[in-house]
Amino acid sequence: MSDTSVSRGLFISFEGIDGAGKSTHIDGLAKAFRDQGRTVTLTREPGGTPLAEKLRAMVLGDAMDPLTESLLVFAARRDHLMTVIEPALARGEVVLCDRFTDATFAYQGGGRGFDLAVLETLERWVQATPAVAPDALRQPDLTVWFDLPPETAAARLADARAPDRFEAQPLEFFSRVAAGYAARAQAQPQRFARVQADQTRHQVWQQLTATFVRRGWLSIMVAANSGPK
Ligand code: TMP
Repeated sequence: MSDTSVSRGLFISFEGIDGAGKSTHIDGLAKAFRDQGRTVTLTREPGGTPLAEKLRAMVLGDAMDPLTESLLVFAARRDHLMTVIEPALARGEVVLCDRFTDATFAYQGGGRGFDLAVLETLERWVQATPAVAPDALRQPDLTVWFDLPPETAAARLADARAPDRFEAQPLEFFSRVAAGYAARAQAQPQRFARVQADQTRHQVWQQLTATFVRRGWLSIMVAANSGPK
């Protein structure tokens, strides 16, 4: 059913291994939604608040064990949810979030091999929304998964600036991260839209906007007139 005319809050996350090329497309979508008259909150994880950005710097820069890493990304997420995401959704805005909890399952769970049951417990604690329903969990309305072979991502990252603690990981780590994303997408197929990210920027944009047009969230005209040329 189409709901372009309805200004209900929309929470959309973007996922994929490092080098998947999410950023330009997220900016393009923000412009497309704004062209359609929506207010957009463009944000990222870990980060999105002053406190969460401090935690991000630690997670990306300092050596730590996987439990500490998981606790810090979930602590950052809690602050981000309470101070940015939930208020924006309550105002009826479109929240475009570069990574969310699926990244924790993919990177800490898949990449680091950390206990998925502990991550599920943390997810329930951090994303509980008792105001909505006693056992409700805040999840994105849609998660766009930029899927591309880890080998292709590694080749793209080879030219990148100084790598952080994740970008510096070997290919096998990213193969496990990719498998982690695939498992999440398989478990919750209604929430995930997979985009084949090993295509030209224009082709990726077309796949992406088709998903939003199909859901009635963007008009065909706006989608065609925005995005990378
Ligand atoms: P970014 O460079 O795409 O902004 O992401 C920052 C890095 O943090 C990226 O390598 C993935 C990693 N990360 C985790 O390990 N766990 C998480 O929960 C999140 C949100 C990101």
